[in-house]
Amino acid sequence: MWGHFFVLSVVVATALGGEVSIPPNALRNGMKERFRTGTFSPEFQQLLQSMGMAHKFRSNVEEREDDIVCQLCNELIDPILKKYEVERLPLDIVWHIALTRTEKGSETICPIIGQGYGCSGIGLADWSINIPPGSSNINHGVVSGEELQAVLLTDIHYDPYYEAGSLATCNLPVCCTVNTVPAYPEDAAGFWGDYRDCDTAFRTIDDALTFISAQHTDLDFVYYTGDVIHHRVWNTSIDANTNDLRLIFDRLDAAFPNIPIYSVLGNHEPHPLNVFAPLEVQDDALSTQWLFDLSADIWSKWLDEDALATVRLGGYYTVLVKPGFRIVAINSNVAYTFNWWLLYDDVDPYGQLQWLADTLYQAELNGERVHILSHVPSNGGSTYSIWSREYRRVIDRFAGIISGAFNGHSHNDELILYHSLENPSQPISVAWNGGSLTTFSDKNPNYKLFKIDAENFEVVDYEVWAFNLTSANLTPDITPDWFMLYSFKDVYGLSGAAPQDVRQLALNMASDRSVVEQYFRFSSRYADTALSGGCNDGCLRNLLCKLLRSEFNDYTQCLELTPEW
Ligand SMILES: *[C@@H]1O[C@H](CO)[C@@H](O)[C@H](O)[C@H]1NC(C)=O
Ligand SMILES: *[C@@H]1O[C@H](CO)[C@@H](O)[C@H](O)[C@H]1NC(C)=O
Ligand SMILES: [Zn+2]
Ligand SMILES: [Zn+2]
Repeated sequence: MWGHFFVLSVVVATALGGEVSIPPNALRNGMKERFRTGTFSPEFQQLLQSMGMAHKFRSNVEEREDDIVCQLCNELIDPILKKYEVERLPLDIVWHIALTRTEKGSETICPIIGQGYGCSGIGLADWSINIPPGSSNINHGVVSGEELQAVLLTDIHYDPYYEAGSLATCNLPVCCTVNTVPAYPEDAAGFWGDYRDCDTAFRTIDDALTFISAQHTDLDFVYYTGDVIHHRVWNTSIDANTNDLRLIFDRLDAAFPNIPIYSVLGNHEPHPLNVFAPLEVQDDALSTQWLFDLSADIWSKWLDEDALATVRLGGYYTVLVKPGFRIVAINSNVAYTFNWWLLYDDVDPYGQLQWLADTLYQAELNGERVHILSHVPSNGGSTYSIWSREYRRVIDRFAGIISGAFNGHSHNDELILYHSLENPSQPISVAWNGGSLTTFSDKNPNYKLFKIDAENFEVVDYEVWAFNLTSANLTPDITPDWFMLYSFKDVYGLSGAAPQDVRQLALNMASDRSVVEQYFRFSSRYADTALSGGCNDGCLRNLLCKLLRSEFNDYTQCLELTPEW
């Protein structure tokens, strides 16, 4: 049943990644055919392929400006919803939404799923959260000279069906699958991973964790910012995801037996992926409760009862690591525009942003400093616009006590510099993306080692550790040669990693393209295929503008810093 759903997401996502123009009605007819016969026609399959279906999860899709999506959305959503009604198909999410929210049609749906493409609609009501008055005193920078160390690991995307030597160019969302055979040797999947659309073999995860735990023997904590599950999106089930999540967290626990691991959920963890149902939806076939309960069970090694209680209510929590230092972990996947439940109710899912504001307010009263963990970055083209704006308001209010924020999802080594609402050129906070352990796509696997001030928990510096996949695959019998690719402060010649230092980095990037080029090379950890693809002038500007975006669609600082670009 959820196949229809998958088709819809494939069509929309495909169009996001596609560069070719689509013949009028081709998609609509293809979808009709799919509903009638249950299969794609060969012509439709060919169309999907020509639109770059295999690349539909590429990380830069959100940067594409294209009105195809709005058009598609308007063209497709209503017929699809109607079809579900007419055929009396079994309950599933779209059906449920269509039944219980009959007033919703393309005019409310397209502004959400097509927001990055300027789809506007009349159906959406605005909302906001209550932020306690006041402002926190912003005083960032290192104070004590004594350092804690934390590893940030993210986006493992474990593929239980990865097989070395299998077909790496299969034209499905993910390849390198057991029992597929390449026609040519160059199409064969590498032993330690593959730059093409392939996820991570267990041996590579095992090797990474063996290396990290042997190399860094003085860790204080580990952050995991989500996406344990593979991109084999048609091949998930509650049972299979449960097994994979347990397996990977057991392996993490074994690697760091005496160190707390603080994690958040990724958008790939649910079944089907991306969807986080409201708590009022209790039907087992639709509810996300299994994932919240499972996470509470797995994370009970590291979290207290109060934290586990909110994990069960939406996958978010807060924990006091030590007096004066608190972690707040949120489930930002709810705001990912592929969370179809936004179409059902988009107002602060799980009351989470209000909880975040209240939690930070309490932390401020207690004199605590805070790290925020999340999966989906708050400023992305696929982060729901109202949520993204409200999140930014929270950061703006509490930037003074937020010593660091950490996320994942994009698979790029990148960062976000948030600027003040009142004074748009004043930098106030930074969110660091961990990159990814998966090679999906055109990436060298990596993790980050953060140095953190032991007194105010500010980020002092970080190191990126990676290996060269091309070189590792030449010698399958030898484990990959992990090395330190760079240290942030050194390589960019900065005096620290505080918001004002990152502002300096942004100014350097704006005035010297070679700095952005360096940032580009690091984003894939010098993956050979990414380097050979290159990054033209527009691409470089996008990188800088993404860094400068404090919320969805906010180009204020981009325009200020790159007027002549
Ligand atoms: C996933 O695919 C594998 C290999 O084709 C198959 O054995 C397994 O049953 C599938 N699992 C699910 C949950 O679809
Ligand atoms: C990675 O290793 C391959 C094979 O040794 C080499 O040709 C390539 O230049 C290396 N890539 C980088 C970015 O150093
Ligand atoms: Zn991911
Ligand atoms: Zn993700």
